[in-house]
Amino acid sequence: MSQPKEIPLMEKIVSLCKRRGFIFQSSEIYGGINGFWDYGPLGTELKRNLRETWWRAMTREREDVVGLDATIIMHPAIWKASGHVDTFSDPMVDCLVTKKRFRADHVEPQSGVVYSWTGASDLDSREKLSQLSLAGGISEEEADFLNEIKSASDDRNVERLVSEREAILRGRLLWKRLFSTVREEPFRVLLPVGKPPESARKIAKQFYQTRGIANPYLDGETTAKVENSRAFNPENGAQLTEPKPFNLMFHTFVGATASEDDKAYLRPETAQAIFAQFKNVVDSTRQKVPFGICQIGKAFRNEVTPRNFTFRSREFEQMELEFFIKPDEAIEAVCGSVAPWHKGADLSAPQPNWGWELWHRYWVAQRTDYYASIGLGPDVLDYWWQGKADLAHYARACVDILFKFPFGTEELEGIAARGDFDLTAHQNASGKSQEVFDDEVKQAFAKWPDDQRAALVERKKAEQRAKEKGGMTDEQTAAWCDRLFKGFYVPHVIEPSAGLDRLALAVLTLAYAEVEKTDAKGNKETVTLMRFHPRIAPIKAAVFPLLKNKPELVAKARSVYDILKKHVAADYDEGGSIGRRYARQDEAGTPFGITIDFDTLGEKGPELKDTVTLRHRDDARQERVKIDELLGRLLPLVQ
Ligand code: GAP
Repeated sequence: MSQPKEIPLMEKIVSLCKRRGFIFQSSEIYGGINGFWDYGPLGTELKRNLRETWWRAMTREREDVVGLDATIIMHPAIWKASGHVDTFSDPMVDCLVTKKRFRADHVEPQSGVVYSWTGASDLDSREKLSQLSLAGGISEEEADFLNEIKSASDDRNVERLVSEREAILRGRLLWKRLFSTVREEPFRVLLPVGKPPESARKIAKQFYQTRGIANPYLDGETTAKVENSRAFNPENGAQLTEPKPFNLMFHTFVGATASEDDKAYLRPETAQAIFAQFKNVVDSTRQKVPFGICQIGKAFRNEVTPRNFTFRSREFEQMELEFFIKPDEAIEAVCGSVAPWHKGADLSAPQPNWGWELWHRYWVAQRTDYYASIGLGPDVLDYWWQGKADLAHYARACVDILFKFPFGTEELEGIAARGDFDLTAHQNASGKSQEVFDDEVKQAFAKWPDDQRAALVERKKAEQRAKEKGGMTDEQTAAWCDRLFKGFYVPHVIEPSAGLDRLALAVLTLAYAEVEKTDAKGNKETVTLMRFHPRIAPIKAAVFPLLKNKPELVAKARSVYDILKKHVAADYDEGGSIGRRYARQDEAGTPFGITIDFDTLGEKGPELKDTVTLRHRDDARQERVKIDELLGRLLPLVQ
């Protein structure tokens, strides 16, 4: 007997997301639009909860972070200054046959036999050519000369000779026209070892047809073996174009003229608005460095290959914090030295002598704690510390927090130590100072003797000279130190940057579970359970009257629902057997089910009156709880 085909996990999750209203394809009734997704009723609640937990952890529960809600379209100069206009691109390759586009670094490496051709000519033309007698073809000068003697002489022999030569000339012109259907453009196809060469030739002919050769005859075929090549389309083996940079920003026009001058961009990250509003936030709040500004909002990237469901989308939401810190030299002045990071360093509470490295480590730890608080523990997370070669020239360190998705371990969040690159870039481009004044730093440097300050200047110069890219000149370094000694500096930044949609996908894949159940008749069935952490579950509690045709049960259940719904996302469900209703809520990931039965009405005696059955989703455990105590039990678990 053949085994039923195993459905891949991601397929099941995508299907459940649609069936239960977590995630739908955008514009599905028109066939969808690649890289765009809509969140249904359950998905919307899930996302709101994730947003809320992040916001609470990053701002409300902290005194040193404030929020921002900026526009999606900003002055285009922001994206020029930030480097996005010039460098925010992915290397892109196209299939020379199908024109399908790939991100060069996403093409799977392949091995096999490469078939190469030097070009192709049109088969029909070749046949016609072979029928033509071209021997003795004449040059254009000769044709002119023949014309001349034809008009100058009435000798019949000369006339015959001229006619013959004219026929040859016509043949030559025809040959020239036909010859233009020869394409001297090399092309290659990669075939896995053992596949018949004809399939490579078929692809090559398709290629030359796209170049205008109707019936291609392939010229100069050779073969060679290759290993791990990314130069071929994994779907058909056809040669890909050389990688070309493709800017990922979507653009639009602001105003009615729609000229190049009105070009604007949909923000590809929320971070830049934080930098652009840094001074306004400093001036309008009592925050002092170190402090942070965070923002949650939509970002747009015209990804070359959107893929893995919502993982790489073209419209998505980011949750970003820019945490501004003093330069290490300022810490050195104020505290005497910068605390070094070491394995096991206490990162529980920020200290005045922390430099960028400890702050960076601190934020990695904070973000890890956040993920644990919503159910993403160390067993499903991983970390990728970028090596020196991978880092942007201005970054001092960057770590990606990775999640074990069903399709691989992939980035959930990046945490970068970006130095003062961003604020300095906006300061230079806008001409508006992004410095802060720090009296403590000024006072500290005032106590330094001249030679100590001079030594710092020299050390800083050497450090900048050693940079391969982006280092300050000696003059700039001296000016920077001079400003610092007076208490002025552009703050440095640590940036934890997370994707809300990626997080939603992570919790959806983590929550998904299948359990086998046996019904009263002994029949086994596999049911789906979404084991969301109660804090992020879309619905926290569902209220069920045991029977819907008993008005007293229904009235009591409704009154319990009315109490709960003011405080938590609750659901009321009276349709179908109680088992079916539990199953429906299990699949939506509702952690608590509350059943109102005859005991609630006091039919079995006063001690159970006004108590309900509280059912726990994950182990189907049931307990009796007083209605008055329900909220007190649930709130600490779901908030
Ligand atoms: N400001 C820094 C920044 O934007 P990033 O690594 O490009 O850094 C940060 O993006 C996070 O945004 C990623 O870790 C990921 O969670 C999310 N993200 C980026 N591109 C995405 C996409 N195309 N679809 C979904 N999420 C994306």
